[in-house]
Amino acid sequence: MPRLVVFSNRVPLGDKPSGGLVVALNDTMASQGGLWIGTETVKERSGNGPDALVNHPGATFERLAMGLTPEEQDGYYLGYSNSVLWPLFHGRADLLSVSVGQFTTYTSVNRRLAELSAPHLRPDDTIWIHDYHLIPLAHELRKLGVRNPIGFFLHIPFPVANGIRALSDNAEFLDWFSAYDLVGLQTQRDVANFIGAFRTLGRAELLSDGRLRFNNDFIQVASFPIGIDATGFRTAAEQAPELPEITTSAQKVMIGVDRLDYSKGLPHRLRGFQAFLRERHAEADRIAFLQIAPPTREDVQAYKDIRRDLEQLSGEVNGEFGDIGYMPVQYIHRSIPRARLAGLFRRADIALVTPLNDGMNLVAKEYVAAQDEADPGVLILSRFAGAAEQLAEGALLINPYDAASIADGITRAVTMPLDERRTRHAAMWSEIARHDNDWWTATFLQSLARAAASRRTSE
Ligand code: UDP
Ligand code: G6P
Repeated sequence: MPRLVVFSNRVPLGDKPSGGLVVALNDTMASQGGLWIGTETVKERSGNGPDALVNHPGATFERLAMGLTPEEQDGYYLGYSNSVLWPLFHGRADLLSVSVGQFTTYTSVNRRLAELSAPHLRPDDTIWIHDYHLIPLAHELRKLGVRNPIGFFLHIPFPVANGIRALSDNAEFLDWFSAYDLVGLQTQRDVANFIGAFRTLGRAELLSDGRLRFNNDFIQVASFPIGIDATGFRTAAEQAPELPEITTSAQKVMIGVDRLDYSKGLPHRLRGFQAFLRERHAEADRIAFLQIAPPTREDVQAYKDIRRDLEQLSGEVNGEFGDIGYMPVQYIHRSIPRARLAGLFRRADIALVTPLNDGMNLVAKEYVAAQDEADPGVLILSRFAGAAEQLAEGALLINPYDAASIADGITRAVTMPLDERRTRHAAMWSEIARHDNDWWTATFLQSLARAAASRRTSE
């Protein structure tokens, strides 16, 4: 079997909070083995010298990281990746923050990563590049003569054509995708957006076999919804100890777990809970809402703003409805280890997963996997989470922009009979267990092998 070489901006080093990409790739690398190359911030490039990737032993696979100076971190990570691409791809052009030099740093970091990595690659490696930080990487590797199969997977949504139009360098941007043998996206909606953007902006032609003819190249694009280690997570939830965190006089516990990111719709969520409490406060069935929201990208202004908004709102809801022995919102602004989350999910009667836009949302899948199938909880899910394409049969789909829709979802969840909870849970579990992380990895890699073979025969 060819060796798998994975690239992503973030590599799991230490116990820093990570996000869905690292969680999913960790599962993939733990079962496949191989080499994982990424970046890490360094004060200055020293020690191993400016021209070396640093080896991080201690995992069951190999890890190499390229040091980024604070200036590179600023232009490439906080800047172009997270102040331009992230807001645009999540449909938030209003939060775009463009500064001089970001784009150049973004491309030069990708170029340097290609140059430093190329000597570590073997001719029979399969290369799999992940997420918006590294879109130009295959183009840079190809320029260095790398002929291996190279696949790309985007963990976040792909925007409509106008989202790409807001990028000043959109011509170059589309070109970068032609260097890949296969482009993988989370959902069918993303694939439709991708094809639409290439047809509108790049005059691409959609061929009958599903490929795009773009300039003189062909692009193969398809959806591969990312999965979790479903049975592993369920076992972790079953084995989790009693949890002191949820000692409350409330009769029902509702949980939310999200990086404190504006795409997650947290203020809207609290408004929805507030609307629910206003309608139903007099009833005995009091709900405690536990929102875990670890900090993320704190040096970007839009993230500072969302933190302030959320703290203000949770204070407001607690002030309005709190009582002696009852605190409606418990807001935790730090990361909780995943194994502990598994236990919290199992204990919670309801999960509130209401992003305004999200590539997939692994938390939604983890909540389902953690449930006791004899007495499962209810998943309230935004129709704008990628997971909604797979979980529509079992989740209560809501509109995250509409507080009344969220409040209505909570009311339905609180009053849902056991039979209906079981039926809905069974539908979701079967989907999550079938399309798990192993399925995602295997399906993508098989399609990549086929796409690369057909490129070689047409060359
Ligand atoms: N997570 C965690 N601890 C936390 C918050 C989140 O381990 O305090 C994990 C969570 O269990 C999930 C991942 O981080 O596996 C978040 O992935 P998701 O796709 O939901 O969102 P992302 O952060 O990638 O946007
Ligand atoms: C999302 C992105 C990942 C990213 C993660 C955490 O899941 O798709 O690429 O790693 O958020 O964000 P961070 O900026 O801390 O890596």
